Amino acid sequence: MSKPVSICVIGSGYVGLVAAVCFAEMGHEVICVDNDERKVKMLHQGGVPIYEQHLPELLRKHGGRNVKFTTNLGESVKNSEAIFIAVGTPQGDTGAADLSFVEAVVSEIANAIREYKVIVEKSTVPVYTNEWISRVLHRHGVAPNDFDIVSNPEFLREGTAISDFLHPDRIVVGVGTERASELLCRIYAPLTDGSYYQREDALPGVCNPHKPARILLTSAQSAEIIKHASNAFLALKISFINAVANLAETVDADIEEIAAGIGMDSRIGPKFLRAGLGYGGSCFPKDVAAFQWVAQQQGLKFQLLEEIRRINDAQQDVYFNKIRSTLWTLRGKRVAALGLAFKADTDDIRESPAIAVIRKLLEAGACVTAYDPAAMEKAQQLLAPSESMQYAANLYEASKDADAVLILTEWKEFAEIDLPRLNRAVKFPIVIDGRNLYHPDRMAEHGFTYVSIGRPGRYYATQGKPKQAALQAE
Ligand SMILES: NC(=O)c1ccc[n+]([C@@H]2O[C@H](COP(=O)([O-])OP(=O)(O)OC[C@H]3O[C@@H](n4cnc5c(N)ncnc54)[C@H](O)[C@@H]3O)[C@@H](O)[C@H]2O)c1
Repeated sequence: MSKPVSICVIGSGYVGLVAAVCFAEMGHEVICVDNDERKVKMLHQGGVPIYEQHLPELLRKHGGRNVKFTTNLGESVKNSEAIFIAVGTPQGDTGAADLSFVEAVVSEIANAIREYKVIVEKSTVPVYTNEWISRVLHRHGVAPNDFDIVSNPEFLREGTAISDFLHPDRIVVGVGTERASELLCRIYAPLTDGSYYQREDALPGVCNPHKPARILLTSAQSAEIIKHASNAFLALKISFINAVANLAETVDADIEEIAAGIGMDSRIGPKFLRAGLGYGGSCFPKDVAAFQWVAQQQGLKFQLLEEIRRINDAQQDVYFNKIRSTLWTLRGKRVAALGLAFKADTDDIRESPAIAVIRKLLEAGACVTAYDPAAMEKAQQLLAPSESMQYAANLYEASKDADAVLILTEWKEFAEIDLPRLNRAVKFPIVIDGRNLYHPDRMAEHGFTYVSIGRPGRYYATQGKPKQAALQAE
């Protein structure tokens, strides 16, 4: 391996913590800074603040050795060659990204710089943020020769963040100088020259020594746009298939068949063509809004982005109307909510469609019992337990005596439900599936009224003696 690089990562959230442990795994010396003292203390004590596959094992392997944790930003900057900024860039009131965390961090970095540093934007930021960072550094008196700014957007997906980081589709580096470019290439060399994948202890994934990760060098502006445009395009695919799903339903077509047929076209591909409750999470909603804001600032009407958002917002209403039209009135109804996280394999509930649906149900007077394999703790901070909002230890307990079961997150566990057991638990065997995890015929065989997205509803299955019929069928 080429000489290890001393790296400082600022922010220990889904991106910062993952980047920090992965850089350590690649052989670098990493210090990870966060101003959340509780989080840093937890990391010192060997705790894992987020639910992410492989994170516990990599923290055990490198924590306190190749990757250390601190709240001291100044010292960490002084001791590092490259400083990655991975703090949050939430949506502001206008739709623009709120860059105040980034600016605060840059001011602190400025006060600590004594010699040349490469400052890397890892957070998702609008185009020209690299220019703004330069200006802030200048204002604080940092000499132009003492820094370079690089844009190195992150494309990891929560749930598979570690393997996405170590086995990326591409590494985008937006850089304007040879010196900074050389350092970034050295940082990623273990992945791009394939040496990481030759190691016996390498985490397996899609890359290998013969097919190492690819690096794309661009200008900083291009790299910033690549990130926003990538997320907007993925959001577009989701909104597109949801719009087609709504059409399919009106003509008794099946969106799962349609998505399979579209996705088999290699120019389109099957990914992100899952009809459902729409996208959520900490990235797509805010990044589409921020990208639209960027276009507006340049005097451009990027109307398509508005439409992506409109379809996505409407999708939650589409689903909610399905609940209403299945259950009729909602006041006093007991509903089981399976899923709280914005998608499977994460505990992240930011902008979760599941949470939005539950809020609407509570407003309408329904009683909700929720279960999620990973996001219960975080959800309880947002939706405090009460008489009408309860949490259960498993999906069957959540479904006990329920008027309907809602599938809100596509966890594997929810695709593998013991259907006879579910049928015995509920008051009425009604499943309203916002993630299309089941084939309608199978649910009908098990005696369920099954309502899903973009497919004909199956109301007739439960006429007569629904529960008994289902039990005998077993
Ligand atoms: N979450 C994702 O899947 C994902 C994927 C790609 C890109 N991104 C982008 O990466 C960035 C970070 O996202 P995230 O999900 O990791 O956010 P996060 O909220 O999980 O983590 C941000 C961390 O930064 C810390 N922080 C804030 N201000 C700080 C300061 N002044 N000094 C030190 N630490 C500070 C916070 O305490 C927090 O731990 C965002 O711009 C996001 O859009 C996120």
